[in-house]
Amino acid sequence: MTQKTEATTDLKSAKSPKTAEDFAKYFQAPSLKDAKKRGKEEVQVHYDFTIPEEMEGIGKGKTYAIRTYGCQMNEHDSETMAGILERMGYAPAEIEENADVILFNTCAIRENAEDKVFGELGHLKRVKRNNPNLILGLCGCMSQEESVVNKVLKSYQHVDLIFGTHNIHRLPVLLRDALYSKEMVVEVWSKEGDIIENMPKVREGNTKAWVNIMYGCDKFCTYCIVPYTRGKERSRRPEDVIAEVRELARQGFKEVTLLGQNVNAYGKDFEDLEYGFGDLLDAIRKIDIPRIRFTTSHPRDFDDHLIEVLAKGGNLVEHIHLPVQSGSTEVLKKMARKYSREHYLELVRKIKAAIPHVVLTTDIIVGFPGETDEQFEDTLSLVEEVGYDSAYTFIYSPREGTPAAAMEDNIPLEVKKQRLYRLNEALAKSGLEKNLAMQGQTVEVLVDGVSKNNDQVLAGRTRGNKLVHFVGDESLIGSYVHVKITDAKTWTLHGEIVSKVEV
Ligand code: SAH
Ligand code: SF4
Ligand code: F3S
Repeated sequence: MTQKTEATTDLKSAKSPKTAEDFAKYFQAPSLKDAKKRGKEEVQVHYDFTIPEEMEGIGKGKTYAIRTYGCQMNEHDSETMAGILERMGYAPAEIEENADVILFNTCAIRENAEDKVFGELGHLKRVKRNNPNLILGLCGCMSQEESVVNKVLKSYQHVDLIFGTHNIHRLPVLLRDALYSKEMVVEVWSKEGDIIENMPKVREGNTKAWVNIMYGCDKFCTYCIVPYTRGKERSRRPEDVIAEVRELARQGFKEVTLLGQNVNAYGKDFEDLEYGFGDLLDAIRKIDIPRIRFTTSHPRDFDDHLIEVLAKGGNLVEHIHLPVQSGSTEVLKKMARKYSREHYLELVRKIKAAIPHVVLTTDIIVGFPGETDEQFEDTLSLVEEVGYDSAYTFIYSPREGTPAAAMEDNIPLEVKKQRLYRLNEALAKSGLEKNLAMQGQTVEVLVDGVSKNNDQVLAGRTRGNKLVHFVGDESLIGSYVHVKITDAKTWTLHGEIVSKVEV
């Protein structure tokens, strides 16, 4: 049951170890085996986050830098870490190398994501040598893996601190320990079911904001490490989410993205409340924020009520990221996605009927263990049938500890690469078709900034999250404008500004 509680999460009490037994429980390296367990314990919501007195102001005159890898969840966690560090007096560093604290907020989703972090962590050996007072911390999803912690302990001794995804609120205490300890401080909780509210956040910019609606994942798709690194599914109380979005509206934010690994499972863990994602969106759409997005939707829990609410439009934008992973029912079964090709296509049909002009995007994995040529062809035909606007595509990467890692990975890398290539070709074709259909239309664009490649050109996003480039003045950054689309490319639209929109 999710319960509100005033019980203290004071950093010194609650989860802080008091006895030797507590110490062993909390000051420890992770265990994927423990992380897999799902208990019946109540989810406690803590509202009393504080920075311990002795840590207040400890960062005065000092600076920090955070490198973020992985998904939006990590981006948002980094905003929380920044918030905590700034409460302690730290300021953002202009140059990372000169920072007093550097945190690597990592992602474990695929092997190449991990390799990149190890490579860059290695480069920081020199930085640490030049600045021995630097505190170098590793956090995020990789910290939750014992193999990673063991490797860091063995070969990356210049790391000072490792903490995980469940104890971000303990950063002040852990930083203190790291500052005064000669040894690497490691505190990773493998099993956690609590929600910590009221942590400070430093949001990037004042236009777009992330808002967590739930944490963790209970789906256990057989290839995926997330249920192990993020713990069990637990939803924030609706009143807390709504209050946060209202506050963002008051501050003048122009877009909010609701975050969860599987937002459609929102509320399923409430025992005292019948309240799902559709209900939450129905409440949030009444808040005066011009655009509300959400990510990620799992096709299995996408119910009719949710479709009905989304069809109301308004500030609920017509973009749905609906990861399919494979177009073959047999592969989906092995992935434990718990839906079939037919169920997915039926869901797409219902969504398209209810939300005209909906932009559909997806995630697809190729080369899952045992995927045959025919099964891959099923993915290609599904892509054609749905007509996605864009997609993230991946070659399957075995993750230690997951069920799929024990399956025979019998597809040669060359074949996997070939499949990825063909899949991307098919997606480029449907992406271009979708974009061409927008030529001549005038669309609403939220201006993000100047284009990466040309500082005379502004870049922004449509309600459907399509990237639009147009010539305009920098003063428009952060506002809504109407742009007439004059030219469509596979992944971008180009246009001319028509007018500024007052919202
Ligand atoms: N919760 C989201 C996905 C989070 S991970 C969902 O279920 O839709 C983002 C994407 O990474 C996944 O959708 C999947 O396509 C990909 N992914 C996850 N594990 C992977 C692995 N072991 N190998 C390759 N791709 C993977
Ligand atoms: Fe991973 Fe599946 Fe959970 Fe998404 S739903 S995070 S793919 S286990
Ligand atoms: Fe990566 Fe963790 Fe997100 S594994 S994708 S950072 S939840």
